[in-house]
Amino acid sequence: MIIAVDGPAASGKGTIAKALARHYGLPHLDTGLLYRAVGIATAQQGGNPDDPADALKGAAFPETLLDDPAIRSETAGGLASRVSIHPAVRAALLARQRDFAAQTAGAIIDGRDIGSVIVPQADAKLFVTARTEIRAERRHREDPTDDYDAILADIRQRDERDSARSVAPLVRAADADLLDTSDLTIDAAVQRAIALVDARIRDRR
Ligand code: CDP
Repeated sequence: MIIAVDGPAASGKGTIAKALARHYGLPHLDTGLLYRAVGIATAQQGGNPDDPADALKGAAFPETLLDDPAIRSETAGGLASRVSIHPAVRAALLARQRDFAAQTAGAIIDGRDIGSVIVPQADAKLFVTARTEIRAERRHREDPTDDYDAILADIRQRDERDSARSVAPLVRAADADLLDTSDLTIDAAVQRAIALVDARIRDRR
């Protein structure tokens, strides 16, 4: 079984994907980490994240970067959103994501284009979202030293960049179930996600 979980920053998609992985006993891939690693590697190499050739060099990042705490920072998120615009970078990460999905056990994969581009044949697709201000509040709670208004501006800019790009934009696939987590606790959001996935699987049988 393959489950695709897409959505914007701080929508809850990562938390939901991890909970689904536990619930169904499936391996989980957070594809945002791959783009974050490309962004950090590009910066570390002195490259310009907006330059396609520089960003492509960053796509050959060392695996250890995936475990570096710096990868979780908003700086890394911003860099990721810039390098992820380049078609060559997306192409360089494609096989790795599809190979993960092809495991016999199945997989839960979260990102921006999983249901639309990476595994359009997924058994269930969730598009997880939440109101922008709520998403900014969540990020602010994770790191109260960061200025709320700056976080809000950053999320707006990232949403705009991710949605407006010509290759693999952030978009809800036609057959994805919408899950708005704005007014849900984590537990409630996870229960709703499981119910939606179970319903899709029942329909497929
Ligand atoms: O956790 P958060 O949503 O803040 O970020 P993330 O999922 O780690 O993704 C960081 C950035 O990588 C996003 O803003 C996208 O620009 C890019 N990304 C993408 O283009 N495609 C994906 N499948 C995953 C992430």
